[in-house]
Amino acid sequence: MSTPSRPPDHAVEPPDRRTRPVHVPLEGPPRAPAPSPEIFAAMGEAGIAAMIHDLYAELERSAIRGMFAADMAASAERSAAFFVGLLGGPPRYHERYGPPMMRARHLPFPIDEAARLEWLACFDRALARAPERHGFPAEHVEGFRRFLDAFSRWMVNVA
Ligand code: HEM
Repeated sequence: MSTPSRPPDHAVEPPDRRTRPVHVPLEGPPRAPAPSPEIFAAMGEAGIAAMIHDLYAELERSAIRGMFAADMAASAERSAAFFVGLLGGPPRYHERYGPPMMRARHLPFPIDEAARLEWLACFDRALARAPERHGFPAEHVEGFRRFLDAFSRWMVNVA
């Protein structure tokens, strides 16, 4: 994997859109079943935010750290809003930031398969501790993990 670097925050259009060919995964958008809403019912907003905090602590010491802003707190907060909705809670991301359009929002960051696997490994470590630490229902770990694997494939934009 080439060393990922973060585009400037002021970039509205990805600065390299015209020069970097954008890879579109052949499988298209994810078709994995949505995560069970029982996850939100068990964890609530605070539990999900705490799990995402753990994810960002893992990303902080990962090989893809350079893609993220120096201060990861804002990104962690936006991600927590997204995962609250995804896991069966109120659509906080949409309310606060507009349509999620996650693939489009990830386009400024060059994400290849190695970056995807690194991201997924970070989530795996956060998820492994989530039942004990944040009340993630253990019976839904596998299904959510499958969802993350499928969804993360759709974020890949570099062949
Ligand atoms: C495939 C590997 C992935 C990589 C390398 C990656 C990387 C990133 C990066 C670099 C950011 C911007 C952070 C910043 O502004 O500091 C971001 C934001 C975000 N990512 Fe990912 N991501 C991946 C997959 C996913 C997946 C699968 C999801 C959801 C299931 C997701 C959800 C989010 C959300 C909600 C945000 C915040 C968006 C915002 O700022 O409005 N990411 N990700």
